[in-house]
Amino acid sequence: MTMNAARGSLLGIEHLSPDEIFRVLKSARRMNPLKPPPLLRGKRVFLLFYEASTRTRSSFEVAAKSMGAMTTLVLSSGSSIEKGESLLDTGYTLQAVGADMIVVRHPHAGAPALMAKYLDVPVINAGDGMHEHPTQALLDGYTILRHKKTIKGVQVAIVGDIYHSRVARSAIYLLTKLGAKVTLCGPPEFVPDLATSLAPGLRITRTVEDAIRGADVIMTLRVQKERLAGMKVSLQDYVARYQITLARLKLARKDAIVMHPGPIIRGLELTWEVADCPQSAIVEEVKNGVPVRMAVMARAIGRAG
Ligand code: CP
Repeated sequence: MTMNAARGSLLGIEHLSPDEIFRVLKSARRMNPLKPPPLLRGKRVFLLFYEASTRTRSSFEVAAKSMGAMTTLVLSSGSSIEKGESLLDTGYTLQAVGADMIVVRHPHAGAPALMAKYLDVPVINAGDGMHEHPTQALLDGYTILRHKKTIKGVQVAIVGDIYHSRVARSAIYLLTKLGAKVTLCGPPEFVPDLATSLAPGLRITRTVEDAIRGADVIMTLRVQKERLAGMKVSLQDYVARYQITLARLKLARKDAIVMHPGPIIRGLELTWEVADCPQSAIVEEVKNGVPVRMAVMARAIGRAG
C-alpha cells in the first residue's frame, strides 16, 4: 500500500485503489485556491528537492502556504547533501527540526519509499527517478475529468518517451484503474513492447496517426534528451514521425485535448501551434496542480478537505 492511511504518505499510484484515487480527486474539487481552507495551519512542510523542478515545487509551496503551513525549501545544492549526507540522515534532520510532512523529488526510484519506511512523518513523492510522479497523474486525471466528466471509456493516446517517464508510468496506472482506453505510441526505444505489462488493456502502436485517430486526450511527453546517451534515437526522425502537429491533431476527436506535463520543448514533441491552440490544456494542468496538491497534503495529515 503506497498511500499509508495512518501516516498519509503518497508514494505512487500503482497500489492505490480506484476509490482512493477518486477520494483525492473529489477532495481536490472541493479545494478553492482563491479561498483556501486553513487545514495546514501551524504545520511545517519541507520541500526536499534533489532535482530541478518549476511546476511541482512551486505548486506544492503555493498549496501548502495557502492552507496556512510554513514551508522550508531544501535543495541538494547548497545544503549538507553536498557534503555527503545520506537521504535518511537528511530525513532524520528535517524530522528533528519539526517537519510535519516531507515532499521529496529524487533522481533514484524508491527514495521516497525509503524515507517513508524509516521516518515518522508523511512523505509525498514529487517524482522519483523513472518510477512514479503520483501528484502529476492525479492532476492529469483531474484535468481530464474537468473536460470529459468521466475517465471510464475515454480514449487516451500517450505519445513519446514513455520508457524514461515517471509521469507516463503514474498516468498509465491511474488511467487504466479508472477505466480509460490507453494507447502508447513511440519508437521501440521509447515504448518497448514490455510496456504493455504495466497495466491490463494497454495497446502499443508505432504510428502516431493510428494513436491519435479518434482520441479524446493526447498526452505528449518531453523527450528526455539528457537520458538518451547510448540510444539509437534520431531526434530528426522523432520529429518527422511522432511530433504532434495541427494536421495530426485533426485526426483526434474535435473536442480532444492536448496534455503535456511540462516542461514542453516546442518544436520537438509538439509544434508551437499545438502548444498554444485552443485544445491545449497544458497551462491548465499546471493550474490544476494547486488544488490537487492541496488535497494530497490535507490527506497526508488526515484532514481531507
Ligand atoms: N511536470 C513536472 O514535474 O514539472 P517540473 O519538473 O517543472 O516540476
